[in-house]
Amino acid sequence: MILVLLGPPGAGKGTQAPRLCADLDLRQLSSGDVLRAEKRKGTPLGDQVAWFMVSGNLVPDAIVTEVMLTQLKDPAGHRGFLLDGFPRTATQAESLDKSLRSKGKRVNLVLSLQVADEVIVERITGRRICPTCARVYHLRYHPPAQLDICDVDQSPLILRDDDTVPVVAKRLATYHEMTQPLEMYYREQGVLAEVDAAQSPDEVFARMIEIVRSRWEGGS
Ligand code: AP5
Repeated sequence: MILVLLGPPGAGKGTQAPRLCADLDLRQLSSGDVLRAEKRKGTPLGDQVAWFMVSGNLVPDAIVTEVMLTQLKDPAGHRGFLLDGFPRTATQAESLDKSLRSKGKRVNLVLSLQVADEVIVERITGRRICPTCARVYHLRYHPPAQLDICDVDQSPLILRDDDTVPVVAKRLATYHEMTQPLEMYYREQGVLAEVDAAQSPDEVFARMIEIVRSRWEGGS
């Protein structure tokens, strides 16, 4: 199964992705996590994408597509993939479709998370992430047991360098211009389902699972 999470920054994609993967036995591929890991390691790719990320712009299609489609080859023993943050432009979506078609596969379901822009800023500025395991916290809605320490591996939590108010505004504008049109693209393919992501994380997760189970009948 190929499941895509679509949604603005701060919609809850990174929060829901690990739960969905555990429940549905999917391998998570998060383009933002992959690119951030390259930045942290200081690879040539990481240096190449750093400016785009910190300024709230999209990384060029050719770079992201190559990185993601390379990783998409191996589900590592899982039943399929969950794509979080990819595709994000029409060009990326078309490249993904082409690549999947060549393997006799397709995008089975796109869950589009709906949250008002006003909610996004509070969610993002209160977010803290674990640089080791990528777990996502929120100072108010999902605090760690110990202030600024990851519950899982005790790493000090960090604020992402693109989680500032001006950069969030830019990321939101970029989302509306470049990514939101994908809702129509996938609606026309009959694979889009909208999810109210303004509810609690547990309610959002329950709704997503309900949709997946009603739409997906066990194909690969
Ligand atoms: P990426 O890392 O993908 O960031 P994003 O899409 O902007 O999404 P976020 O990670 O900010 O939000 P999220 O939806 O995962 O929310 P989260 O679950 O953390 O991309 C970063 C950058 O990389 C891009 O700007 C771009 O430069 C580049 N990039 C990545 N992919 C690319 C691509 N395909 N093409 C080109 N460039 C690309 O939740 C946010 C906070 O809210 C958390 O604190 C969480 O605890 C809290 N929260 C979550 N759900 C709820 C809820 N229901 N109620 C209350 N609080 C909640």
